[in-house]
Parts: sequence; C-alpha cells; structure tokens
Amino acid sequence: MTKIAIVEGDGIGREVIPEAEKILRFFLPNAEFVKVELGFDQWKKTGSACSKENMTTLKEMDAVLFGAVTTPPDPEYKSVLLEIRHELDLYANIRPVKSESVDLVIVRENTEGLYSGIEEIGEDKSTTLRVITKAGSRRIAEKACSLNIQRNQNTPLVIGHKANVLKSDILFRDTCITVAESQNLPVRSMFIDALCLDVLLHPDRYDVIVTTNMFGDILSDACGYLTGGLGMLPSANIGENHALFEPVHGSAPDIAGRNIANPIAAVRSAAMLLEYLGMKTEAEKIEKAVQQTLSLRIVTPDLGGNASTRDVGENILAKISEHQRS
Ligand code: NAD
Ligand code: IPM
Ligand code: MN
Repeated sequence: MTKIAIVEGDGIGREVIPEAEKILRFFLPNAEFVKVELGFDQWKKTGSACSKENMTTLKEMDAVLFGAVTTPPDPEYKSVLLEIRHELDLYANIRPVKSESVDLVIVRENTEGLYSGIEEIGEDKSTTLRVITKAGSRRIAEKACSLNIQRNQNTPLVIGHKANVLKSDILFRDTCITVAESQNLPVRSMFIDALCLDVLLHPDRYDVIVTTNMFGDILSDACGYLTGGLGMLPSANIGENHALFEPVHGSAPDIAGRNIANPIAAVRSAAMLLEYLGMKTEAEKIEKAVQQTLSLRIVTPDLGGNASTRDVGENILAKISEHQRS
C-alpha cells in the first residue's frame, strides 16, 4: 500500500496543505495517509521541532507532502526542513516555473554549498563554510541533464554560478560541463547575478537551469515574478530513496490564519508527488483544473481576487471530479 506523510508544518502550511491533501486522497483512495506534526509550533510545544520517531516515519513513507515551517534566524535553532533534506539525502530540488508564456525548471543542489551547516558564530566574527564536492555536483548535474533530455526543448542546459569570485564554483561549473558534454548536451554557463535578471527579461531562452543551493533558493523566489507570485510555485525534493514535495514559499506569518493563502503551489506540489508515483495523467488533470479555476478568476488576494484558500481548493477538486465523471 502506498504510504504518504502529510506535514502541514506552521503558518499557512496548515491552510494550504489540507486543500492539496483532499486532492491526493481523491486520486489515492487506498493509500495510507500519516499525519506528522513538526516545525516551530511543535518546538514551542515540546522543545523538539522534529522527534526521532517523526524522522523515522518520514523515512518509511513512499512520499511526503510538506507545507512550510517557520525558521527563526536564531543561532540556537536549526531548520528542521534542512535536517530532513540532509537525513533523507534529498539532493535534487526541482522547481518548475510555469505559466502561459513561461516553462522552465530550476534544478537546485539541495545538500551542500552554503547550506553545509558548518558554521562558527561569534560576537566579532561569524563564518559559514561553503562546501562544493565533485560527487555532489556530478549527481545534481546528472539530474539536470536527464530533465533536459526528457523535456526535449532544444535549449542548452544553463549552469548558474559565481566562479569569478567563489573559486569553489569552478568545481561546480566544470563538473556540470563535463557531465553535459559526456551526454552531448549543449551547455551555457552564466554568472548567477546576470542570470537572475536575464531569466526575468527573457524566460523563453531558458529551459533547465542547474545551480548551487543558495543561488537556487534565491533564483526560484525571484522567478515567482514570472508566474504571479510565490503562491504558484511547487517543488520536489528528490533523493535516491526518498521524496518530499512542498511549495517554494514559506509559512507566511503575515497572512497566516486568515484563509487567504493561495493553495495552488501546494496543489501543484501534490501533482508533482503523483507524477513521482507514476501517475502522470492524474497530475495533468490537476493542472488542467488549476488552469480552469484561474480562468474563472476564482483566485486569492495575491492574484487580485477575493476567494479564500478553501474556495480555490474546493473549486479545483470540483473541476477534477467533473472531468472524472464525464
Ligand atoms: P514566505 O514565502 O513565507 O512569504 C513571503 C511573502 O509571500 C509574504 O508576503 C507572504 O504573505 C507571501 N506568500 C507566500 N506564500 C503565499 C501564498 N501561498 N499565498 C499568498 N501569499 C503568499 O517567506 P518569508 O516571509 O521570508 O518567511 C516566513 C517564514 O517561512 C520564515 O520563518 C522562513 O524561514 C520560512 N520559510 C519556510 C520555507 C519552507 O518551509 N519551505 C520556505 C521559505 C521560508
Ligand atoms: C526554501 C526555503 C528554505 C531554504 C529555508 C526555509 C530553510 O527558503 O525551501 O526555499 O532556504 O531552502
Ligand atoms: Mn526559499
């Protein structure tokens, strides 16, 4: 039996995930859904953001649907999401950016770079170690190349880096070039700062962009500009043995608890989860229902509408079941 963990987390995670979960349950009526409580609220309640048992549960699942967790900038508090990405070795963070006129995907290295976790925090001097390894660069490059081949858009693989200043990026860039060339794929390497602007100006020139951990984090939020905002962007965190699906956005404390968060990023993350389980047709049905809901203008305030989180979720589900019946 398929086992899916449902992690709502904090803030708007608690509002958007129930909408995505309803859709997952519709397509997976026989799956086992296991609710896992973790995050900042859980830390405040119990002193632990994610218990050992919870981590074990996540590892036993076929896939995880994840909302968002609050991570305060406190040196004593380690992000539970980063802990999960490391523990489950979810090295590939796949972040598609899609709208009527845009179709590209950011492949973000998800386990090293500036997120190595190796830090020394002092009063007068604080350091964070940026770790780039050949093995880590190779596996993310291979993932990006296979996506590039699969998408077959005849657009070169773009490598986003900062090798002029961060010499550690020479290893990342060159490893990506070697992997792409070994597969006869055209590749273009670009400095990440110039890339950030160019992708917003000319998104049609891009298909797959591979980059290091923090550059991918920043680039993916910036690309929200191309799709109507953060409420639209889903993501997949994939490893050899585990997978976790989550919106790109965070817990949005500024709008939490008001039933106005856009659930589309969460719903699309559920679609990516189904595709990962081999249910591509079902994933496409979800996207079709999202498109219909958008064209009916049943949208939350971030997209200029006045629908609630629940209205949008229920409409998407209603469209899906209409198709299923017809
Ligand atoms: P955020 O993504 O939570 O919010 C940024 C802005 O986008 C806010 O104005 C918010 O209202 C808006 N927004 C985000 N998602 C939206 C949605 N679905 N619908 C409508 N508007 C939406 O980023 P932040 O404010 O920088 O961070 C808040 C907290 O979330 C922090 O503690 C941060 O560490 C955490 N965070 C968690 C994750 C995660 O768990 N995956 C990701 C990013 C940030
Ligand atoms: C994301 C988030 C996380 C990250 C934070 C909350 C740890 O911003 O998933 O994009 O930086 O990776
Ligand atoms: Mn981010």
